[in-house]
Amino acid sequence: MPLRVVVLVSGSGTNLQALLDAAGPAAYPDGAPYAVVAVGADRPGIEALARAERAGISTFTHRVSDFAHRAAWDAALTESVAGFEPDLVVLAGFLKLVGDTFLASFGGRLVNTHPALSPAFPGMHAPADALAYGVKVTGCTLFVVDAGVDTGPILAQAAVVVQEDDTVETLHERIKTEERRMLVGAVERIAREGFSVEGRTVRFG
Ligand code: GRF
Repeated sequence: MPLRVVVLVSGSGTNLQALLDAAGPAAYPDGAPYAVVAVGADRPGIEALARAERAGISTFTHRVSDFAHRAAWDAALTESVAGFEPDLVVLAGFLKLVGDTFLASFGGRLVNTHPALSPAFPGMHAPADALAYGVKVTGCTLFVVDAGVDTGPILAQAAVVVQEDDTVETLHERIKTEERRMLVGAVERIAREGFSVEGRTVRFG
């Protein structure tokens, strides 16, 4: 049975698309090691949801502003994701911090991709922060989500050299190219080998 993956998104969904393409029949005529079984979002009308719909994948959307308080939103998100019985939940450009209920349900099988080399530059503006700091190398990190902001144990990283004429946009685009490769490679390994976490150290297998 392929690993059941639910992906949460907020934007253009190129990381999601990479996961979809890599598990498609062209790559695996006899069946991929993982399957994206649903895509969830925190806002409607985004390209990531359109990508899921074009691929014939179930989608759901929960806007924080539609709920009386954040915990109610978190509970609804948890329930929707749980309904698809995922083995792995991937936050791929999901611009919300999940809450305690979500973490309690999916902790240990919840991963997030971040466009910086952790522990440098946590938060929403990592490529801009890296550029402003003047680092010569940055990159991307896939980590197991914990209660902090981009602080969880690291599953995979890839480095990207900063060019002298980079803007935030050109740098982020090059990071995203590496990020998609890193994410797909790690999800394939998780599907084949699984992983374990000991302290801050993550091991496949
Ligand atoms: C990625 O760089 C992700 O790490 C960041 O936002 C970007 C999302 O890109 N938080 P996409 O929606 O997968 O194209």
